[in-house]
Amino acid sequence: MNAKDKHTIYTLLKTADAYECGFIREKFAGEPVFGDDTETNHTVVSTPSTGSGTATTVSTENLGLTIEELNAKILRCTRCGLARTRNNVVPGMGVMNPQVLVIGEGPGYDEDMQGLPFVGKAGVLLDRMLAAIGLDRKTNCYIANIVKCRPPENRNPLPDEQAACFSFLETQIHILKPKMILCMGKIASEKITGQSISINQRHGEFFEYNGIPVMPTYHPSALLRNEELKRPAWEDLKKFKKYLDQLNSN
Ligand code: URA
Repeated sequence: MNAKDKHTIYTLLKTADAYECGFIREKFAGEPVFGDDTETNHTVVSTPSTGSGTATTVSTENLGLTIEELNAKILRCTRCGLARTRNNVVPGMGVMNPQVLVIGEGPGYDEDMQGLPFVGKAGVLLDRMLAAIGLDRKTNCYIANIVKCRPPENRNPLPDEQAACFSFLETQIHILKPKMILCMGKIASEKITGQSISINQRHGEFFEYNGIPVMPTYHPSALLRNEELKRPAWEDLKKFKKYLDQLNSN
């Protein structure tokens, strides 16, 4: 709440109290100094009906922006320490109302240099994986990350960095309205589902984010490190596509 609203409520209560007891009490003689709350306001925009969903709250601070306005705001962000080491911010890329929102962890070297998501080796593999099920960032997908700036040495983004950035992704989801979400790897899967997730155990399962079906699967970088994961990842993608086709046929 901002200071002005607090002052209005205080004045109303003071007036009501004076009216009730017939005089202004001593405790209301002076006036407190009100400040703006620094916390982000949140509101529940929808609650999932069934399954492994989370009743997710979405930050209200960016609601009403277009995707271009939001991404311009992301480009100026200095909310966490990653702003000091980045070369470029990587808000994301793709189409509005995508069939699928693909969510990675955070930009790597190539992404940081180009300001675009998944454009390095892992990105080439990701594009091939998506193409295999009829998806691509130019026509029917949007690609974003949990954090929009590169963590130094490609370390995992820290919880406070993820938290500082998350309202941007929440708003991207709110504006873009994807039919389904594909989470690449543990970091994205945990942040979106709000659960602790072992990708080896939970890949290919369906979760929900504000009513949107979500599937965690292997991060393409993991597939580059371990070829044996390509088969289970492919099974995930086929299952994901089948669900998407079902959604589209309803
Ligand atoms: N890895 C990610 O998680 N995101 C990118 O954008 C690139 C690599």
